[in-house]
Amino acid sequence: MSVIVTATASVNIAVIKYWGKRDEELILPLNDSISATLDTNVMCARTSVCARPDIEENEMYLNGIKTSFDNKRLQTCLNKIKAIATLQKVVDKEFLSWNVRICSENNFPTAAGLASSAAGYACLVTALAKLYKIESDISQLARLGSGSACRSVFGGFVRWHAGGKCDGSDSTASQIVQSTHWPEMRVLVLVVADKKKHTSSSIGMKRSVESSELLKYRVEHCVPRRVDEMINAIKGKDFQRFAELTMKDSNQFHAVCLDSYPPFHYLTNVSYKIIDVIHKYNEICKETRVAYTFDAGPNACLFLLEKDVPEVLSLIKYIFPSPNTDYVRGLDVPKAEEENTFET
Ligand code: ADP
Ligand code: DP6
Ligand code: CO
Repeated sequence: MSVIVTATASVNIAVIKYWGKRDEELILPLNDSISATLDTNVMCARTSVCARPDIEENEMYLNGIKTSFDNKRLQTCLNKIKAIATLQKVVDKEFLSWNVRICSENNFPTAAGLASSAAGYACLVTALAKLYKIESDISQLARLGSGSACRSVFGGFVRWHAGGKCDGSDSTASQIVQSTHWPEMRVLVLVVADKKKHTSSSIGMKRSVESSELLKYRVEHCVPRRVDEMINAIKGKDFQRFAELTMKDSNQFHAVCLDSYPPFHYLTNVSYKIIDVIHKYNEICKETRVAYTFDAGPNACLFLLEKDVPEVLSLIKYIFPSPNTDYVRGLDVPKAEEENTFET
């Protein structure tokens, strides 16, 4: 007897960044954040979980390579979901005692600043919740794997509410609008480097919390106002406002990295060249037609409207002649999906 469940989840691109935790264990953020979840199957994780009585110990395979199960976040997610299943008495005790084999693949670079932890953990908890038939807030469970993952369980534009409770019960994500609200919105993902980042997001943000005065200022004086303005810009489909806020927030996040001590940085010369090109392009157009944002890596995500895609794509391909310029179709996103379940 074995049970196999498969799920997929897409990456989300933050336009108001999460950077800094107030609780490392529960993964509670210092500030609210906002993101856009990409189309299903464009940049996504696909995870299968198999439970069988003859699996001797829990196993994890990431992109085809066996990785250690001695990973606190992985174990927290599995244990928490099993604990909920035990309480809800939805599956029998024997099934809960079986070990699992987890196989996950990302169809884009892992740990390169393209939100693999977000898609990965959103996908993992979706699959585990299905396997153990639990009824729970999947967003909060995904948060225990990686903060940004709590936003990938919804499509469209999503807000992660930092919450104020010590137990994290109000630190969860909600959808601001569905992707259909702004159907002209597109994202171009420019892969500058697909290598694993030198400083993981978790380590980087911990150092910023410990040492950056700019981060404190950002959290208290900038983010609350930006979140309100961003929500208005998204709801009102005000691209100019949306774009300006997105770029400013990305720049402030990277400034925080430099303000940390010892400093660290994710942007490369190519990233800076992209920033300069976008500003120059917007200046020539006499309006803001493209916004860039960079997560914890050198890779750029450009937000723009469908009508401007051909021209901007040609420009990018002309300035950066590389096979790595991928065109991502846009936002049209259902939430993390359960694909199928097999019982044999
Ligand atoms: P990224 O910018 O890609 O999110 P992070 O440093 O935040 O990079 O996280 C990378 C880590 O996330 C990986 O080392 C791995 O532990 C975890 N991860 C990435 N993809 C998956 C996945 N599909 N399933 C489970 N965990 C994943
Ligand atoms: C720059 O969610 O990867 O992408 O919670 O420690 O797993 P952990 O960090 P992670 O951090 C993401 C940081 C960011 C901004 C964002 O996605 O909001
Ligand atoms: Co991440």
